[in-house]
Amino acid sequence: MKALVLAGGSGSRLRPITHTSAKQLVPVANKPILFYGLEQIRDAGVTEVGIIVGDTGPEIRAAIGDGSAFGIEVTYIPQDAPLGLAHAVLTAEAFLGDDDFVMFLGDNLIEGGIRYVVEAFERDAPAAQLLLKQVPDPQRFGIAVLDDEGAIVRLVEKPKDPPSDLALVGVYLFTSAILDAARRIKPSWRGELEITDAIQLLVEEGRQVRASLVEGWWLDTGKKDELLEANRVVLSTIVGRVDGELDAASSVTPDVVVEAGARLIRSHVRGPAVIGAGTVLEDVFIGPFTSVAADCTLERCEVEYSVLMERCHLRDVPRMEGSLLGRDVRISRTERRPAAHRFLLGDHAEIEITEGRV
Ligand code: G1P
Repeated sequence: MKALVLAGGSGSRLRPITHTSAKQLVPVANKPILFYGLEQIRDAGVTEVGIIVGDTGPEIRAAIGDGSAFGIEVTYIPQDAPLGLAHAVLTAEAFLGDDDFVMFLGDNLIEGGIRYVVEAFERDAPAAQLLLKQVPDPQRFGIAVLDDEGAIVRLVEKPKDPPSDLALVGVYLFTSAILDAARRIKPSWRGELEITDAIQLLVEEGRQVRASLVEGWWLDTGKKDELLEANRVVLSTIVGRVDGELDAASSVTPDVVVEAGARLIRSHVRGPAVIGAGTVLEDVFIGPFTSVAADCTLERCEVEYSVLMERCHLRDVPRMEGSLLGRDVRISRTERRPAAHRFLLGDHAEIEITEGRV
């Protein structure tokens, strides 16, 4: 059994963060999303891992290296253009050979790991094994229609008029039959070779395609609000630990991680939250479900339900919530006249202002 991890794609729904960095490396609870998947693959006993990379390949390679830090052996497989999941499978043909494999989308987070589904696949040996989860917005996903016995009748990619609310989770188990099916499908309306269509072909040909429901949470971190939600869910599971320094006027609740080298000066953190290494908080309140990455500086701020990436500097921001800040972001208050907001924003930036309403 091998693993194929998809870490290409343009991340258009997470711009501007993804103008400069890979969506799979955006942190959740201060750890890149992709790392969770790689750890779960290893924990399922799979060590030969192919990673499909696109334009952000150099950044992915820098973060993962040869995989030894994760206990896996990584082969990088460049994909010329993001032409769909089935195209990615075909791109990986030489790496996959005739082996069975688990395909894991690098921006998906799934509770409890994948060991049980890998074991079920090895035991029952179907042509494909899918994971499904009920969702409120099925138009956004690949959807499965099941019969009364729970067998798959039909699969549709992002239907306008969804025939069910069971979404395909971004973890699939395949035999090499999927390669043959992927070769025979045509691009969809969005111009991609859809894995959903390739699996549908297996179903039509009477191959055994199994599905099981995911019991725990499943998070697809494509957009800001989903990412903040993923951060909330993962932070809810952390165990607090203080390796950094707190002065006598600072406090943290027991569900807060303060990494080594972080410093709190007259600051309070109400968890769950993580404060990264080398970050300095001075006269700050951090509220629940907040991840502050390494080497940030916050002075006289209140921040809640937010993700701050490395080296952000915030000064005199009285209240910020529901925010995702990329690396090296600076926000400060000024006494300069005229009293106006001044911005330097990248393409696709989003700002919401409530002060000074007219
Ligand atoms: C892809 C698949 C879709 C699946 C989803 C899970 O969608 O095409 O069937 O439900 O991943 O994250 P995409 O991320 O390409 O929109």
